[in-house]
Amino acid sequence: MNDPVSRETPLAPSEAVGVFSHALPLAERYADLLAREGVLRGLIGPREVPRLWERHLLNCALLGRAIGEGLDVCDIGSGAGLPGLVLALSRPDLQVTLVEPLLRRTTFLEEAVSELGLENVEVVRARAEELHGNRDFAVVTSRAVAPLERLLGWSMPLVRQGGELVAMKGSSVHEEIEASVGALKKYGAGAVSVEELGAGVVERPTIVIRVEATIPSRLGWDTTRDRGPKKKGATSRSRQRRDR
Ligand SMILES: C[S@@+](CC[C@H](N)C(=O)[O-])C[C@H]1O[C@@H](n2cnc3c(N)ncnc32)[C@H](O)[C@@H]1O
Repeated sequence: MNDPVSRETPLAPSEAVGVFSHALPLAERYADLLAREGVLRGLIGPREVPRLWERHLLNCALLGRAIGEGLDVCDIGSGAGLPGLVLALSRPDLQVTLVEPLLRRTTFLEEAVSELGLENVEVVRARAEELHGNRDFAVVTSRAVAPLERLLGWSMPLVRQGGELVAMKGSSVHEEIEASVGALKKYGAGAVSVEELGAGVVERPTIVIRVEATIPSRLGWDTTRDRGPKKKGATSRSRQRRDR
């Protein structure tokens, strides 16, 4: 099947007005960047373009409904900025750090931040694990990065005590939770809940898992890999990579 796929940026659907509100013009500019540069640079598939709003932008913006006012958020494995960049443009009250190891993607993210004029975003080129012990956040988000068990290992050491992992997941989220009981315990999880956001607004509501961090994240460190608190090298390594 070689159906031609339109690369023209699709117009925002009517639901986008309510979801993005005042930020809709910024969301439209970001959609345009994804549809043009994102596809050209191989960051999203051309077949995603016609469903950019329904499958990507609206769902990611709805995640904002699960995040409190004025918090610092770390989005790990941001890729082309989903959900982190959407959160940043739709919620200027948040301070958002996008963590992504691949240079091609961080280059796009930095350009998008600059083009959209966002002042509440930091782009860090690193694997999430490289920040353990050096950075912490009130909220750590992600979408399509890893199965829950591995995601907990990458995310929970970045969550400040009293903060939360708030990750977008698919319909198998409950099975993933069952398979992650050991990891939840290991990484100091408190209450775990699943929420559906945007029912009645979008065709497929955003499924979110929320995991509270009840003990200091350092207790969750994997000591078998010789990670200690405040290893200076880790920060400078990720900074060096970011500057390259
Ligand atoms: C399937 S993509 C998802 C991208 C984006 N979140 C989305 O939903 O479109 C997974 C992303 O996670 C990144 N990634 C893989 N391992 C990672 C790690 N250990 N720490 C941070 N990001 C990672 C990859 O480079 C990739 O950009």
